[in-house]
Amino acid sequence: MPLVTSKEMFKKAYEGGYAIGAFNVNNMEIIQGITEAAQEVNAPLILQVSAGARKYAKHVYLMKLIEAAIEDTGLPICVHLDHGDSFELCKSCIDGGFTSVMIDGSHLPFEENIKLTKQVVDYAHAHGVVVEGELGRLAGIEDAVNVSEKDAAYTDPDQVEEFVSKTGVDSLAIAIGTSHGAYKFKPGQKPQLRFDILEEVSKRLPGFPIVLHGASSVMPEYVEMINKNGGKMPDAIGIPESMLRQAASMAVCKINIDSDLRLAMTGTIRQYFAEHPDHFDPRQYLKPARENIKQLVKHKLVEVLGCAGKA
Ligand code: G3H
Ligand code: 13P
Ligand code: ZN
Repeated sequence: MPLVTSKEMFKKAYEGGYAIGAFNVNNMEIIQGITEAAQEVNAPLILQVSAGARKYAKHVYLMKLIEAAIEDTGLPICVHLDHGDSFELCKSCIDGGFTSVMIDGSHLPFEENIKLTKQVVDYAHAHGVVVEGELGRLAGIEDAVNVSEKDAAYTDPDQVEEFVSKTGVDSLAIAIGTSHGAYKFKPGQKPQLRFDILEEVSKRLPGFPIVLHGASSVMPEYVEMINKNGGKMPDAIGIPESMLRQAASMAVCKINIDSDLRLAMTGTIRQYFAEHPDHFDPRQYLKPARENIKQLVKHKLVEVLGCAGKA
């Protein structure tokens, strides 16, 4: 099975009322944990690489690891650039074998977002690669993504038809109240998403795949594992899984998860060292970290996204 685009995956997901998991990858253990989980439950996968991940691990290493995962699991896997911020970065990923890229022009004025996105779409489509665009701005702070709450903005449904028809994008990320990172809602705040906006967007774009970023649930067991073992994370609140299920049953075909993987890996390694303070062989602590990533991803694929058995 070669690398695939997300075209077929999204078509089936839209019709079947489920979503594909798009998990961020940075190293071998993360890739193995995710792909072994998907293999066990026969789920299609999107593995996504941010500019920061590409800088950390190098394009060629991630590409070869993903190719190895395909050979090992036989799964349909799409390799996607997460939050591409320029034509040059998207081009470099397309030339380097990615099957999907995101061009994130969400911080630009509408017309400029259209212009940049269309430039990427023209190049990508000429090379058999699909493109995700974004309208609206999520809050959240991470390496490459840094948007304060006051700069965040919900997607305006009145803009989506024009954006999609003028750019030719294959999927669209929208802002309905999710955010990047581990602190999505304040302590005591009730998590809420604007499903009315999602509904409006899907009415205007029938059959068109929508993408949800910032969709980690910030699973309390891993935050607790971190804090019980020397960590100091403040109260972290994520997106309830019931809301992700609801989004997946609607027009959302791709759900992005990174922070949950980071928390599972960090919590497991912290606990390992608390229990084995004298150990220093990286294989000893990376093995349980990889295993917990696998269990977490299996849970997401089966219980949340509904894509198990759909590969
Ligand atoms: O949405 C961003 C992803 O979680 C990637 O984060 O830029 O720190 O690799 P990163
Ligand atoms: P989380 O920080 O909620 O995992 O979101 C990841 C994401 O949207 C990657 O693009
Ligand atoms: Zn994102």
